[in-house]
Amino acid sequence: MTVSPTTPQEVQKKLEELRATIRRHDHLYYVINRPEISDSEYDRLFRALQALEAQYPERITPDSPTQRVGAPPLEQFKKVPHEYPMLSLDSHLNIEDVKAFDQRVRRELDVEAVEYAVEPKFDGLSVELIYENGSFVRGSTRGDGLIGEDITLNLRTIRPLPLKLQERMAPSLTLVVRGEVYMRLEDFHELNRRLTENNEEPFANPRNGAAGSLRQLDSRITADRPLTLTCYDLRGAIFQGGKTHWDSISLLEQLGLPIPQYRRRCQTIEEVIAFHKEMAEQRDQLPFEIDGIVVKVNRQNWQEALGEKSRSPRWAIAFKFPARKEITKVHQIIVSVGRTGALTPIALLNPVEIGGVTVSRATLHNVEEVARKDIRPGDTVKVERAGDVIPDIVERVPVKGEVRSDPFVFPTECPVCHSATLQEGPIIYCTGQTVCPAQLKGSLEHFASKGAMNIDGLGKKTVAQFVDQGLVKDLSDLFTVNKEQLLKLEGFAEKSATQLVEAIEKSKQAPLPRFLFGLGIRHVGAHIAQVLARHIGSLEGLMISYKEDLQALHEIGPEIASSVESFFQEPRNLDVLKRMEDLGVRVGTVERLSDRTNQPLAGKIFVLTGTLEGFSRQEAKQKIESQGGRVTSSVSKQTDYVVAGKEAGSKLNKAEQLKVTVLDEEEFKSILDGGSPSALE
Ligand code: IVH
Repeated sequence: MTVSPTTPQEVQKKLEELRATIRRHDHLYYVINRPEISDSEYDRLFRALQALEAQYPERITPDSPTQRVGAPPLEQFKKVPHEYPMLSLDSHLNIEDVKAFDQRVRRELDVEAVEYAVEPKFDGLSVELIYENGSFVRGSTRGDGLIGEDITLNLRTIRPLPLKLQERMAPSLTLVVRGEVYMRLEDFHELNRRLTENNEEPFANPRNGAAGSLRQLDSRITADRPLTLTCYDLRGAIFQGGKTHWDSISLLEQLGLPIPQYRRRCQTIEEVIAFHKEMAEQRDQLPFEIDGIVVKVNRQNWQEALGEKSRSPRWAIAFKFPARKEITKVHQIIVSVGRTGALTPIALLNPVEIGGVTVSRATLHNVEEVARKDIRPGDTVKVERAGDVIPDIVERVPVKGEVRSDPFVFPTECPVCHSATLQEGPIIYCTGQTVCPAQLKGSLEHFASKGAMNIDGLGKKTVAQFVDQGLVKDLSDLFTVNKEQLLKLEGFAEKSATQLVEAIEKSKQAPLPRFLFGLGIRHVGAHIAQVLARHIGSLEGLMISYKEDLQALHEIGPEIASSVESFFQEPRNLDVLKRMEDLGVRVGTVERLSDRTNQPLAGKIFVLTGTLEGFSRQEAKQKIESQGGRVTSSVSKQTDYVVAGKEAGSKLNKAEQLKVTVLDEEEFKSILDGGSPSALE
């Protein structure tokens, strides 16, 4: 029997002891899966801590094990900028591509061999976790990679996530940890059973289950969901200390964070391929879903030297597993109309489970694919599911004695607005454009979507109501919708109507890249919209750009250029834009890259090789870019300068062969400091 503490010092000591003991058992149970005490023993400890904290509420700390749930539901998630961009990975399916990655890496680093760290690729949601002075202070979703949503309260409920790092190691620095929140298969099935019993919609797959559970405004719901976590990246000041990715993951482990159970260091790409094969074989026995492996250059200074592209690192890739395939039957083929007016044939299937997910429809892409594969209602088919993409029909599986129905014929008119259809290459389009409700709905959904105007509360259902009730006949009408109109729609009340009107009002101040993307110009995705915005700078500028000028821009090809030109020549589009302006929409401007052409290094192409003393590769690159230059990885005739540091390798030889100007560090510095590059030529 323990004696109740009495003096403040004793209380504090007892609280800390209990917390430390509970944390230790949490770690044993949830992180390394080696519990040392029974559940009832654990409960006793936990209740003792709760009781003592109830007696001394002023002594409760946010990182106490009792403080995982408790906050009232949020109105909405706060946006938080990431400490470092959250990148995604280029993915490859073929051994050849993975070998090519290895060759590129070694060529760019100018070395014979590179050590890789490999891990499974977990199929969940990536999160950023911030620890300050050893305590978990903030966590967010990936969002657009630069800004995520603050889901701290929800993350706190995930038991394997330590609220406090292990004392012995806790550095007083800010740690930026990246990891994946996911759901184990068994837990996923159990959750679906529970949801179905309560007449709630079950989740289609564990990844959706994890996403749906984590993005809850009420963290009590998240607390009730079986989420788990693994951590695979560490940044922040401490990052400098670790020399390799491997060591930084080991450090995470020592700090008490959950890390991938399977990981390996590979000296050659062949060893990487062998790990991929082993994991693929084990995949079906694992208690959670993985969709491939992640291959990372182990040395951190090499990661830095390789750097990043716009959305993915050049030092890591995902090496995916082949898609899983199953056999089922097509019971009907329907045609759906998207926002571009393209008619897509869709096969409705007898539901079939593929790798833990129920699939009941698959795309047949276009008229040529239907003809080539000759898929008809009633056919038995092989269906494949590759990660996120809509399942695909691979082929028909002939069945002996089967009587087939007539070949599928494409409708000659739009199934939604009955306008005539028009074939362009393999794709059949509805010519209805603005009169086709399906196209209008699609365009509106896209315009309002997260990556575009990001109008909260304007989803598929509301868009359908707007169009069906005749409130919105083109994109500009969106800015005329008022509260009275909303209140007449099903599902709207005072609060939701006010919020939507406010969200629409707010979207009137539109950043150029988002607005451009939102317009849904064919071939202009989010990235190309950024590129156009950066080069042209304003909507007005784009409206008067000729395709020849656009085509001259980096990353803009002839297809994109003519698509943009014709969009801004179409009178109906111009009317819509004019009307938006009249209704108060103000599209922002962006500083043009070419406004920097008076910079000293404008248009100059650099290659860096060897080690510089005064800068890291990344810094050197930034310096060059900030003065208008570009850095590429291999030496060619186009290269203006090769900057050769210590131990420069074959790139230096190449430069000499091609007679490219070679700069040593001193010369390079003098150029950066405004010395004329031409003086050196
Ligand atoms: S590293 C810069 N490691 O895959 C490197 N990612 O397509 C960033 N993922 O957004 C990621 N398992 O959500 C890394 N072992 C692992 C991973 C992993 C799953 C996810 C992560 C990321 C996506 C990239």
